[in-house]
Amino acid sequence: MYKFWWFIGVLHQIVLWGLTLLSIHAMPPPAPVQCNQTGCTLYNSYGTWGDRKECHVANVTYPKTEEELSLAVAYANQHRLKVKVVSKFSHTIPKLACPSTQYVNSMLISTSNYKSTIEIDVANMAVTADTGVGLRQLIDKVEAVGLSLVAAPYWEGVSVGGMISTGAHGSSWWGKGGAVHDHVIGLSLIVPAKQSEGFAKIIRIGPLDPLLNAAKVSLGLLGVISKVKFSLEPGFKRSITYNFTDDDHIEDLFMDHAKKNEFADITWYPSQHTAVYRYDNRVPLNTSGDGVFDFLGFQSNSVLVTESIRATEKAAENARNVIGKCTMAGLFLGSKKIVANGLKNGLIFTGYPVVGHQGKMQTSGSCLYSPVTSIGSTCAWDPRVSGLFFYETTAIFSATQFGNFIRDVKTLRDLKPENLCGIDVYNGFLIRFIKASQAFLGQPEDSVVVDFNYYRANEASTPRLDENIWEEVEQMAFLKYGARPHWGKNRNLAFFQVQHKYPNFSKFVAAKKLLDPQNMFTTEWSEEILAGEVVANGDGCALEGQCICSEDNHCNPQNGYFCKQGVVYKEARVCRYSSSTYQLA
Ligand SMILES: Cc1cc2nc3c(=O)[nH]c(=O)nc-3n(C[C@H](O)[C@H](O)[C@H](O)COP(=O)(O)OP(=O)(O)OC[C@H]3O[C@@H](n4cnc5c(N)ncnc54)[C@H](O)[C@@H]3O)c2cc1C
Ligand SMILES: *[C@@H]1O[C@H](CO)[C@@H](O)[C@H](O)[C@H]1NC(C)=O
Ligand SMILES: *[C@@H]1O[C@H](CO)[C@@H](O)[C@H](O)[C@H]1NC(C)=O
Ligand SMILES: *[C@@H]1O[C@H](CO)[C@@H](O)[C@H](O)[C@H]1NC(C)=O
Ligand SMILES: *[C@@H]1O[C@H](CO)[C@@H](O)[C@H](O)[C@H]1NC(C)=O
Ligand SMILES: *[C@@H]1O[C@H](CO)[C@@H](O)[C@H](O)[C@H]1NC(C)=O
Repeated sequence: MYKFWWFIGVLHQIVLWGLTLLSIHAMPPPAPVQCNQTGCTLYNSYGTWGDRKECHVANVTYPKTEEELSLAVAYANQHRLKVKVVSKFSHTIPKLACPSTQYVNSMLISTSNYKSTIEIDVANMAVTADTGVGLRQLIDKVEAVGLSLVAAPYWEGVSVGGMISTGAHGSSWWGKGGAVHDHVIGLSLIVPAKQSEGFAKIIRIGPLDPLLNAAKVSLGLLGVISKVKFSLEPGFKRSITYNFTDDDHIEDLFMDHAKKNEFADITWYPSQHTAVYRYDNRVPLNTSGDGVFDFLGFQSNSVLVTESIRATEKAAENARNVIGKCTMAGLFLGSKKIVANGLKNGLIFTGYPVVGHQGKMQTSGSCLYSPVTSIGSTCAWDPRVSGLFFYETTAIFSATQFGNFIRDVKTLRDLKPENLCGIDVYNGFLIRFIKASQAFLGQPEDSVVVDFNYYRANEASTPRLDENIWEEVEQMAFLKYGARPHWGKNRNLAFFQVQHKYPNFSKFVAAKKLLDPQNMFTTEWSEEILAGEVVANGDGCALEGQCICSEDNHCNPQNGYFCKQGVVYKEARVCRYSSSTYQLA
């Protein structure tokens, strides 16, 4: 057994170093829409949605211009079809991009070919881009004229329209803040119209138009976004240092950290008692350094390595081997420290601080590129290989509540730290910062975002090791501390009562009624989320986050998982293994 772990560790290290020195042939992600003679199926980038029901659509159209986009909306309106937009890669984790369960009445508009225009207004420091433009393409264009987009998600595989629609963010409490939509100063929206107007019309929404607060974060429910205008700042560089240290007092330090560092974040590995503070600030353009941040988790992985990591994780799951997971978590954390999470001064990481241009430091995704020459390597979650498969919970807290959440998680951890190794195999708790926003579905106050990923079984009915822990933390976040869910991530139960968490929610609903009175863009799935109800109650519904258990059959009693109360948050109802020696209570 020891030899095996040693082998996995060495393999991992070799690949990490190998990747920085040579370029391996990589496969870009698959197209999310797959068609055959009978019709088309839409997937997301992980290859599946929360409810595991496939999304079938009768007609998929690929407009290249704003006019074609408008004609597609007119066609859908005229034929009374349900219609949704999907981007080139379709990253949304909730099933928001799926038009309908009724195959024949549904239409999908892909923006993957609508990306020809990026207009930069240097004098006014603004850029207007077609909605299908990829984030990387946008950033490279604005950097080339000496300007910078200040906020962006860490993952560059998103489109202009898709990222603002779900409230995507990086991390900052400074200036306009870390959410991309708070840098939007205008957009064009194509909405259904009367026959006399040609069944569709384009509305241009300027910076002072009250509709902008509804349209900046719209979950695709108001119409089709065709162009987005962002404000920019003069080009700058950033200087980044990671401090891998102990996790004492994070609950007291996080605010100060965010106030002192413009692009601060913290990665917390609770089972490893480690916090990684990111000191990340603007420096003048003439500061020397031409570094890049090629985030490790977004680099290409050889299929061999991805599959062996997944196989190892699965073996630990099947053997109920908590210690095995802790070994993996320790190894991975060690590798991340050696390569500084993927920061590179030049070809490789040689030491802190790493200084580089904003365009090279904010966002990455090198697994997206490289030629389609061989089946050598992919993004680690590529659904075509037996690679990583996980859930992603993203909870957005009021800054004043966040310290108490950390204290609760620490109490849970201190009872048995090994039980928390499962998330540390991934990225622990990634803690980021978002500033208060005017967007109706944006954050109403300065907030702290926590992301954590955890093992997801290949079969929906298979319970997972220590799943009670993640269910308890999830319910603590969304119920006890009233955290708001990231619109583009999460399992269904995170959206429970969501309409009461946004003070301007009713203003969003009013805008939706005004712009799409026939509910062309409203779907079964968007209704489910916005109604804030968790209605599922079938066997095993709690395993996939479709419900909070209230009976044992919502878990998996056949395999020893019963519905029990939480350990620290007693009001939680979680699926816990009952005859385990690793049990908490
Ligand atoms: C690996 C990975 C890393 C991520 N990292 C981050 C991160 O660091 N920070 C963060 O906040 N998020 C992150 N996300 C989430 C991601 O930002 C969101 O899922 C985002 O919405 C994806 O954009 P997309 O272009 O893929 O949109 P899609 O998934 O195609 O669309 C998202 C939604 O917007 C709608 N939509 C898209 N385009 C339009 C349009 N033109 N008009 C109207 N509606 C439209 C779609 O119908 C759908 O409902 C990450 C996701 C993944 C998979
Ligand atoms: C063809 O597509 C339909 C609908 O998208 C799907 O149900 C069916 O399984 C597909 N058939 C094959 C052979 O892939
Ligand atoms: C699909 O939609 C387009 C409009 O975008 C329309 O011209 C075409 O006829 C439709 N195809 C089918 C098979 O319905
Ligand atoms: C790292 O963080 C710890 C805890 O905040 C602090 O005591 C230490 O000085 C930091 N180290 C560096 C190099 O900044
Ligand atoms: C950078 O430029 C400023 C003036 O714009 C100057 O004061 C400073 O010394 C320069 N720094 C370096 C490292 O060249
Ligand atoms: C949104 O709600 C807040 C109250 O939380 C209010 O202060 C703000 O003005 C509202 N925004 C708009 C545009 O109405």
